[in-house]
Amino acid sequence: MSRPLKTEVLSIDARAPGEDVLRQAASVLRAGGLVAFPTETVYGLGANALDAGAVARIYEAKGRPARNPIIVHVADRDQARALAAAWPPKADLLAACWPGPLTLVLPRSPQVPDIVTAGGPNVALRVPGHPVAHALIVAAGLPLAAPSANLSTRLSPTRAEHVFAGLDGRIDLILDGGPCPGGLESTVLDLSRDPPHLLRPGLLSLEAIIERIGPVLRQAAAPEKSFLPSPGLLERHYAPATPLELLGADGEKGIRAYLDRGERVGWVTSRSPAPAPAPGLTVATMPSDPAGYGARLYAVLHDLDRLGLDRIVVDQPPKEDAWLAVNDRLRRAQRGTEDHF
Ligand code: TXA
Ligand code: MG
Repeated sequence: MSRPLKTEVLSIDARAPGEDVLRQAASVLRAGGLVAFPTETVYGLGANALDAGAVARIYEAKGRPARNPIIVHVADRDQARALAAAWPPKADLLAACWPGPLTLVLPRSPQVPDIVTAGGPNVALRVPGHPVAHALIVAAGLPLAAPSANLSTRLSPTRAEHVFAGLDGRIDLILDGGPCPGGLESTVLDLSRDPPHLLRPGLLSLEAIIERIGPVLRQAAAPEKSFLPSPGLLERHYAPATPLELLGADGEKGIRAYLDRGERVGWVTSRSPAPAPAPGLTVATMPSDPAGYGARLYAVLHDLDRLGLDRIVVDQPPKEDAWLAVNDRLRRAQRGTEDHF
């Protein structure tokens, strides 16, 4: 980072985004600046996707490795189509899920700068459903390159305060539209191959995708490539600073042992009744359905992280497909885990 920026925070109504704030944010974007904004999944850090210099600032602000490509957010299917060099029939079938938490990877058009795709042949496209995200794209009149608005490898932000804590002084503007309703990132599907490959499970269920286009392969990573097919698959991502551990069925004994040796432990659990209070123990009670759990997960981890605990332990959620995205993020959040699957 060459010199610190003054990061401005502006409130915006999530249901009826105000024109003045949008105009201000749009002018920052058109001048090549960085604006964080809410989406239905997590906060994104946006820049003009057609301006390589602006996109370079995203990498700089996040400390993001140059080999990790960035999703381009557009207002509608036609704008997506204009940035793809090919548009297979399955893209049309899936575009019915837009606006929404689905990202499609397609061959890129020459208009898309190298830096957006990390030099790779494909571009990732998504039409976000959040009114602020949509209105911002329209107001700027630009496709917006936007990764999650966190420092690289850290937890994604679901509230403006999470963005501020990570990126204050590194970006121009944060639009505070309140908490993101979905709480987990979009599902990333590679349509440049047939059958399509699931690159990252996310808020849109695999079932909803298969319903529309039939079989989908679950991606095996290809670490030998110089750009990564979806680097989220390879590295420790979405991690709190506090060590995190997933608990098996007999995990309670382990927690007692940590507490007995004087550790301060955060326990993330859907158990009912909730575990009894104990000295050193902070319990975060989670909903028992996957959508409710996913919506709360990052906010709970951000909160526990701020307490400076010795460790966070998480009851292993059910292993069914409905929990795919939650289980994926929890696995990656375990400290030191290099997830090559
Ligand atoms: O919900 C979301 O997707 C949020 C909001 C802001 O839209 N964005 C997000 O972006 O999670 P990010 O950068 O944190 O994660 C994007 C994922 C990464 O795993 C990246 O490698 C993959 O999508 N990706 C981006 N462009 C790609 C491309 N051209 N080919 C393959 N994978 C790509
Ligand atoms: Mg991210």
